[in-house]
Amino acid sequence: MHKGFALWFTGLSGSGKSTLSERICQRLAACGARVELLDGDEVRTHLSKGLGFSKEDRDTNVRRIGFVAELLVKHGVIAITAAISPYRETREAVRERIGTFVEIFMDCPIAVLAERDVKGLYKKALAGEILHFTGVNDPYEPPEAPDIRVDSSVEEITVSEERVWTLLKDRELIPLSW
Ligand code: ADX
Repeated sequence: MHKGFALWFTGLSGSGKSTLSERICQRLAACGARVELLDGDEVRTHLSKGLGFSKEDRDTNVRRIGFVAELLVKHGVIAITAAISPYRETREAVRERIGTFVEIFMDCPIAVLAERDVKGLYKKALAGEILHFTGVNDPYEPPEAPDIRVDSSVEEITVSEERVWTLLKDRELIPLSW
């Protein structure tokens, strides 16, 4: 029916990873796909409980997500991941292990993220109350050749969703009839 593959969302906090990945996940599930969503915020309450935001802890978090995704993909499941995953080398290591891997870069200007600030974290980070906050006082290494780049400050979510959906069909990862 469909192949096992990873759909890997990367980008800053608030850039729309969770929102877009949830839509794609629901759409795949509605088609009868075997699909699982590994969201950074949720993973950090279970699998990565206790980890912080140092480079080492983030890499551990991302490698754990990658490990679970790899197991799922091996069994023909679509593994969607939505974590900041800020380090290029770590993302590449995970990509190599998984093999069939589609990378979606959620790219949104930091000014817009700070203005939206849904969780109130940018305000705190900019005020120096949170150290090592990605994009403010901690690095984010953008993908050099993502499969799709989405700027959620200018693109409607329905458009982004269609672009992802079309790519999955073009790559023959899901049936054309979906
Ligand atoms: S990752 O860097 O290890 O991939 P992950 O996606 O799991 O990060 O978690 C990011 C979420 O943790 C953010 O959406 C935000 O809600 C919260 N968070 C708390 N502290 C930080 C921080 N210092 N940097 C980034 N996100 C943080």
